[in-house]
Amino acid sequence: MKFVPFFIFLVLIDLYFYFGTVSSVNKLAGSISFYKIFYWFLSAIIYSAIIYVIVTYEKTANTAGFNNTITYSSFIFIVFIAKFIGLFPLLLDDVIRLFKFIINFFDKPPHNYDNSRSEFLRKSAIVISASIFSTLLFGMIWGRYNFKKNFKNIFIKNWPSCKSDYKIIHISDLHLGSFNSVEHLEEVVEMINEEKPNLVVFTGDLVNNYYSEAIPYVNTLKKIKAKDGKFSILGNHDYCDYVGWNRSSEKWKENFKNLINLEKKSGFDVLLNEARIIKVGNSQINLVGVENWGAGKFNKDGDLDLAMQGVDDNMPTILLSHDPSHWSQKVLKSKYKIDLQLSGHTHGMQFGIEIPGFKWSPAKYRYKQWAGLYAYNDSQIYVNRGLGHLGYAGRVGIMPDISVLNIKNK
Ligand SMILES: [Fe+2]
Ligand SMILES: [Fe+2]
Repeated sequence: MKFVPFFIFLVLIDLYFYFGTVSSVNKLAGSISFYKIFYWFLSAIIYSAIIYVIVTYEKTANTAGFNNTITYSSFIFIVFIAKFIGLFPLLLDDVIRLFKFIINFFDKPPHNYDNSRSEFLRKSAIVISASIFSTLLFGMIWGRYNFKKNFKNIFIKNWPSCKSDYKIIHISDLHLGSFNSVEHLEEVVEMINEEKPNLVVFTGDLVNNYYSEAIPYVNTLKKIKAKDGKFSILGNHDYCDYVGWNRSSEKWKENFKNLINLEKKSGFDVLLNEARIIKVGNSQINLVGVENWGAGKFNKDGDLDLAMQGVDDNMPTILLSHDPSHWSQKVLKSKYKIDLQLSGHTHGMQFGIEIPGFKWSPAKYRYKQWAGLYAYNDSQIYVNRGLGHLGYAGRVGIMPDISVLNIKNK
C-alpha cells in the first residue's frame, strides 16, 4: 500500500506528458494511433517492471541476482526522469496559457485570444526527454563497465628514493551487488595486473549491504597481484546499516564478520583503525587505514587517534579513508602529519563531464573533493571515482575508475 502514492505520481507524469505531446508526435508520425499504441505499450512494460522490482526486492536483495533488480529499476528511473524533466516546457506552456486566459477574462469582448499550445514548447518537451533518455540509456549500455585507467603523478616530501616511481593502484566502491557478471571484474583484475603495481589499495564499499553479494567475486579478487601487498578499508555500505538491522543483533554481527573474512579470503589486509609499515626502496612508509567516517548522517566508526597510535610520522604517511569529507573535517584539523589521503565514496555521482583541463559533476556541490587530486598546505587527497555503481546502473562522463598513482619524491 505504501507504493500507491508513488504509483499515482508516476501515472500523473505519464498522462501529463502524453496529452502534452500527442498532437505533435501524431503530426510528425502522420498517424493518430501510432503514438497512442507505442506510448502506452511501453508504459505497460514499465509498470510491469515496477511491480516486478517491488515484489522481488526483498527476496533478491542479499543475493547475486540483485543486479537484475538494479538494471530494471535503473531503466524505470531513466524513463521517468526523462519524462519528468520533459514536463517543464509543458508546464511553462500551461502557465502562459493560464495567464492569457486570465487577461482575456477581464478584457473587453470580443474574445479572440489563441489558447492553443505552443508547438515550440511541445517539441522542446519531446527533444529534451528523448535526449535525456538516450544519454542515460547509453550510460547504462556503454558507460557502466567502461573501465578507465586514470594516471596521476603524486609528489610527497621525503618519499624514499627508488630507481623507479612507486606505483599504487587505487580502486574504490565496487558495490559488488550491482555487478552483473564475474567477467567484468576479471577485466578489472587484468587491467590492474598489467600495471605490475607495488601496492593495491581498495577504499571501501565492497558491497551495497550484505556480505553475500561478494561471494561470487572472491576468486576473481584473489587474482589481483601487488608486490608489497593489497590493503583495504570499509565504506559506509559495508556495515549493513541501510537495511534496518540493529548493530547489536546476531545477524548484523554475523554479516560484518563474514564481510571481513571475505576481504581476507580475497587477499586483502583490512585496516580497521590500524597501521602497517611498508618497505619502499631502502626506507619505509606508514600505511594507515580507518573505518568509515562520513560527514552528516553517515556512520563515524573511523578513529584516527586509534589508527595513528604508535605511527612514526618522521616517515611519509598515506591514509586510507573512504569518505573524502574526513580529510577536511578531521584529518586536516588533527595533529598528525598525513601526506596523502586516498578516498572514494563520491562515485563522481556517475554523471558529469571530464575532459583535460575541465571537470564537472553534480558531486562537486556535495563534496569539495570529489574526483582526482587536491592539496592543502603539505597534505594531499586523491579521490577515486569508484569502479562500481549504486542506484543508476550506468555512468555518463565519469567512467569507472582504476587509478594508477605514481608516487615521486618532492
Ligand atoms: Fe560507494
Ligand atoms: Fe560510500
